Order: sequence, then structure tokens, then C-alpha cells
Amino acid sequence: MTAPTGNIALSTRRLEKRFGSLVVANDINIALPKGARYALIGPNGAGKTTLINLMTGMLFPDGGEITLEGEDITALEPQSRVRRGLARTFQINTLFPGLNALEAVTLAVAERRGIAGEFWRNLSAHRESVDEAYDILSRLKLGDSCYRITRELPYGRQRLLEIALALATKPKVLLLDEPAAGVPHEESGEIFEVVAGLSDDLTLLFIEHDMHVVFRFATHIIVLVGGAIFAEGSPAEISSHPGVREVYLGNRKHV
Ligand SMILES: Nc1ncnc2c1ncn2[C@@H]1O[C@H](COP(=O)(O)OP(=O)(O)O)[C@@H](O)[C@H]1O
Ligand SMILES: [Mg+2]
Repeated sequence: MTAPTGNIALSTRRLEKRFGSLVVANDINIALPKGARYALIGPNGAGKTTLINLMTGMLFPDGGEITLEGEDITALEPQSRVRRGLARTFQINTLFPGLNALEAVTLAVAERRGIAGEFWRNLSAHRESVDEAYDILSRLKLGDSCYRITRELPYGRQRLLEIALALATKPKVLLLDEPAAGVPHEESGEIFEVVAGLSDDLTLLFIEHDMHVVFRFATHIIVLVGGAIFAEGSPAEISSHPGVREVYLGNRKHV
């Protein structure tokens, strides 16, 4: 099960986190191979979001370590992790409500390039940033929405735009916490289809509660229960795992 270290994009070793007496990460050992599409599943309160927060540096662990491409990043601030290639999504509504999609992603690209300060003075000097932003939007099938104001985009497209903003940081690893949350069921498959189809160089870890989506797009599934890894394996292994069915999946018929 353990892949050679050179193939590992992101890993955690013996990660521990408590909130008071509540243990939310208990000896978490994860190794995400480069290019993987890993799903993190588990009941509400299992510690999934906390784990992503630990990985991105929004929270610091009480013990253990996190490495990105073999480098220890455990003590780094979120922004330093982003610069090293670790990205997550944020809700755009609060970030760029009045910009159109192309402007928002161009600003994020310019920010990465360290030229965002001049952004408003001379847009033409940012041709390359604009081109890169349009390319990112096209990869997410948002090319035809690029001049729409972000807050007026349909909800599913806003979720994709959040992913576009994360891609503007040129991540090696992208962490997605329920990227299709709030999106009508029929559209959530489309979002994952676009995301799972991104470059093979990009390593993905996503939290998702819709098991249809998880089993369709994940190459590997980690089941978290009560802050600990309860099971992990291929979709076939997880769907036939008796403990997982009992503890988490219950008797849902579609799994
Ligand atoms: N900042 C916090 N302070 C105290 N308890 C927290 C905090 N964040 C999350 N929790 C608790 O930690 C547990 C795990 O939460 P979370 O990681 O959000 O679970 P999940 O994403 O799997 O639903 C929950 O019981 C939650 O109430
Ligand atoms: Mg959560």
C-alpha cells in the first residue's frame, strides 16, 4: 500500500488534533500519490474539514507532521503552503462579488505573479495574466461565462469559479471540501467530471457526501470516523467493506 516517497505529493504522519477533550485527528497517516483522485468520506463531525484545515495550515496540529513533495510544511503559514503548491477553495461571494469571472481569475493570476498591485493601472500590461486566466476558465468549461459578474453566476458555476481561483495559484495539490455543496444533484456530477478531468499532474483530495459521485470519480477512498482512519482502499474495496457499510453507509441501496 505504501508508495515510494518520490511519488507522494502530500503526506501526513501521525497527525494529531484535539479541540479541548475532543480528539478530531487521531494518528492520521495519509500519502497522496502524484496525480491521485482521493476522496475523504465519513459521517458529519468525523473530522474531514479539520483534516483539510490542518493540511492547508488554517489549523496547526498538536502532533505529527505534514510533508509536501517530501518537504516538511507542518510549521508553515497557509500562504507559504500556497506558494509551494498546496491550494484549497474559498467562497468567492465574499472575495470578488462585483468582478466578472475573467477579472476575478486574472486578479488571482496577477497576485501569484506578484503584479497585482499594478492591476488597476494598466490592464493591457496584464495580457499574459488575462490569457492564463481565460485558459483556466476554459479548462473548467467557464469560457462562455467569463464576462458574467461572479455573484450573478448560477450556483454550480460559482463553485467552478472557486476552483478556477485555486488553479490560478498553480497548485500541485488541490484540496476540495464539498465542492458541489448546495448544487442541485444533477449538476454535481458535472462539476466533478470537470475537476477529475483536470491535468494528471494535479493531485486531488476531495470531501464529498454523495456516494454516487465518490464511487464514480475517486481512485482511492479514505473513511474517517471519530477523527481516525476507519478504512481506506479502492472504491471496490470500500464498497464491499462490511465495517464501512455498517458504520457509515448504513443500508443505502445505491452503494
Ligand atoms: N474550531 C473548533 N473548535 C471546537 N470544535 C470544533 C472546531 N471545529 C470543528 N470542531 C468539532 O470537531 C469535530 C469535527 O468537525 P469537522 O472537521 O468540521 O467534521 P466534518 O467536516 O467531518 O463534518 C466536530 O465535532 C466539530 O463540532
Ligand atoms: Mg466538513
